[in-house]
Amino acid sequence: MKKDFLAITDFSSSELQYMLERAVILKEEWKQGGNAPILKGKTLGMIFQKPSLRTRVSFEMGMNHLGGNAMYLSPSEIGLGQRESVADVARVLSGYVDAIMARVFSHQHILQLAQWSSVPVINGLSDYNHPCQGMADALTIIEEFGSLKGRKVVFVGDGNNVAVSLMFISARLGADFVITGPEGYDMRQADILKARALCAESGGSVTEVRDVQEAVIGADVIYTDTWTSMGQEEEARKREMVFPPYQVNEALVNLAAKHVIVMHCLPAHRGQEITDDVADGSHSRLFPQAHNRMHAQKAILEYVFK
Ligand code: CP
Ligand code: NVA
Repeated sequence: MKKDFLAITDFSSSELQYMLERAVILKEEWKQGGNAPILKGKTLGMIFQKPSLRTRVSFEMGMNHLGGNAMYLSPSEIGLGQRESVADVARVLSGYVDAIMARVFSHQHILQLAQWSSVPVINGLSDYNHPCQGMADALTIIEEFGSLKGRKVVFVGDGNNVAVSLMFISARLGADFVITGPEGYDMRQADILKARALCAESGGSVTEVRDVQEAVIGADVIYTDTWTSMGQEEEARKREMVFPPYQVNEALVNLAAKHVIVMHCLPAHRGQEITDDVADGSHSRLFPQAHNRMHAQKAILEYVFK
């Protein structure tokens, strides 16, 4: 049976742990001179309905490192669900490439691609979640603290796609996850409840806190993302009115643990959700985190191709 990578919740904590351990090994091997060409002759088709720097380049380089190739298909080329139905795209592409990575607007399109494709499908971000980012985030936290267990991970801002995957990987791996943001931009209750159910197994917790200062007290990780995600541009002005109290700035970081690390999936809107001094300061892990996309995804690629 083909293996997809669509959501953190599709995997057990031991499967996630295994992929993260492989990511550490593949990263070390690569630093020592290179990886084995385990994907020789394999091609990853990459569908993008939205712009990307990290997802595109890290997948393309990741495939190269493992001996394979990647093919970039731009938003204007495929017209997923417009020029052609998702089901038809999936069935055609499956005959040409060995796996598909897709960045879409609607999460339904990821699910339909996976349903109709005969090759593995990897979710490179949808309006619902961003599981590859969640894996890179976990890898970054593991590199810093050894594991997520018992770590206080605080997401500051919009209860968006990045927050969803961070919450689920935190819940699966036993972190104490806290989300804080303005009223009206909360995570869906169904997801909060689902994450809490996972915590029963892992020993983690999920808490919603409205007050941002209270939320970050003692935090090991402060994480933020854009106030306005791709596809929500018409809401930008309205969002800019309510999100400023949730800016990650020096005063906020000073309320966290002394060893706190600050994370952001990028692209950052400096001066909005994060200030320059924090993004470029000693607590920032923004760039190692971005680089870890490539290492985490190589483990995901190895997993889906196996
Ligand atoms: N974090 C992330 O997914 O970045 P891109 O939008 O540049 O791929
Ligand atoms: N929440 C952001 C993440 C970008 C990587 C967005 O969806 O635009």
